[in-house]
Amino acid sequence: MATIVEVAPPTSADDPIAWAAVAENRLWNAENHAQLGYADLDDTEAAAVRMAMPSANRLTLRVVALDDPDDPSSAVGVGTCSLTLKDNLTTAAAHVVVRAERRREGIGTALLAAVERRAIAEGRTTLQSWATQVGSPSAGDPGVIAPREGSGHLDGGHPVAQFMTARGYTLEQIEVHSMLRVPVAPAVLDPLASEAAAKVGEAYRLITWTDACPDELVDGFARLRAAMDDAPTAGLQYDASHWDAERIREGERRAAEAGLVMLAVVAQHVASGQLVGFTQLDRYPERPGSAFQDDTVVVAEHRGHRLGMHLKVANLRRMDELWPDVRRIHTWNADENDYMRSINIALGFRPESNEGAWQKVVA
Ligand SMILES: CC(C)(COP(=O)(O)OP(=O)(O)OC[C@H]1O[C@@H](n2cnc3c(N)ncnc32)[C@H](O)[C@@H]1OP(=O)(O)O)[C@@H](O)C(=O)NCCC(=O)NCCS
Repeated sequence: MATIVEVAPPTSADDPIAWAAVAENRLWNAENHAQLGYADLDDTEAAAVRMAMPSANRLTLRVVALDDPDDPSSAVGVGTCSLTLKDNLTTAAAHVVVRAERRREGIGTALLAAVERRAIAEGRTTLQSWATQVGSPSAGDPGVIAPREGSGHLDGGHPVAQFMTARGYTLEQIEVHSMLRVPVAPAVLDPLASEAAAKVGEAYRLITWTDACPDELVDGFARLRAAMDDAPTAGLQYDASHWDAERIREGERRAAEAGLVMLAVVAQHVASGQLVGFTQLDRYPERPGSAFQDDTVVVAEHRGHRLGMHLKVANLRRMDELWPDVRRIHTWNADENDYMRSINIALGFRPESNEGAWQKVVA
C-alpha cells in the first residue's frame, strides 16, 4: 500500500513542491483521456501549478499517495481539499484520482479519508465532489440512480458511483457536459441571431472585451457575477457568493498567469446603465482547437427577452473571427437548468458525459 503524504500548495511557478500539482494534473488528464478519448479538457502543467497556488479566495490542500515516500515520481494517486475563503465557509470540494492500473487497492479510500480529515480540521462540515461518467442512462435502465432533488440519471454501477456511494456520499445533482462543433452553420445561427436581436430590441446594448474587464465596468460586472448564484444547485449546500472588483481582477490575473485567454460579452440596460447579462468563452492558445463556454447569466428582472441567446450568438461570432482555429466548445449545465440548456441545444450542443455532484455531511 502506498504512503499518503500532504504536500503544501506551491507559492510560485518554480516552487520545487509544485511536483504534487503536476502529478495531480497528469492523473486527471489521463482519466479524462480514458473516459472521453480526447485531450480537450486537459489543463496545461503551467496552468495546473498556477491554479494550485493559493489566492485570496481559494486554498487547495493536497495529499499524494507515493509508492516510495522519497520519490515524487512514484505518485499513484492524489486527493485535494479545496476551500473557498470568502464565502461558503462550511463546505469543501473533495476530489481523488488514482492511476488506472492501481485501482481497487484501497488507495482512493485512504486519500479520501485524508482529505476528509483535513476538511474537518479546517472547520468544514460538508464535502462536495464532481465526477465524470460517460453515458446517458434513462429512467427505466437497470441500476440507474437519480439525484434527490435535481433531474437526470447516472449508472449506479459505474466505479465512481460505487466508490462515492460506499463512502457515504449522496448524489445531489447532475451536470451535463455538452460539446458544440464550430463554426455553427449560418443556416442554424442566423435565424437564432435575428430572432434574438428582434426580441432584445433597442433596450440593451452589448459591450465586449478580451481578457480584462474595462475599469469603468468592473463594479457592475462584480454585481453581475453574483447573479450566477441563481443557477440551480439542487440538494447541494451553497451559500451566496462574495464578489467584488478585487475578486474580478484577481481572477483575471490568475487566468493570465495560467495562460488562459477569455472573450467576454455583457449586456447593458441602456436606460439605467446597469449590466444585466454576460457570457464568456475561454481557451488555452496552446490547444487552439477547443474552447470552454464559461458562465452565462441574465439577472432575474431582465430575463425573457432572449438576452441569453443574443449574448451567446454575439460571442460565438467574435470567436469565429478572433479564434478561427476552434473546432469544439465544451460546457457544463445542471441537468434541470432547462432555460440554459434549451439555448445550448438550439445552438447545437450535444451531450458528451454526465458529471455527478456528490455530497457528504461530515460533522
Ligand atoms: C474513484 C477512484 C478514486 C477510486 O480509487 P481506488 O483506489 O480504486 O479506490 P479504493 O480501492 O479505495 O476503493 C475502490 C472502491 O470503489 C468501488 N469500485 C471501484 N471500482 C469499481 C468497479 N469497477 N466496480 C464496482 N465498484 C468499484 C468499490 O466500492 C471499491 O471498493 P472494494 O474494492 O472494496 O469493492 C478511482 O476509480 C479513480 O481515480 N477514478 C477516476 C477519478 C474520479 O472519478 N474520482 C471520483 C471522485 S472525485
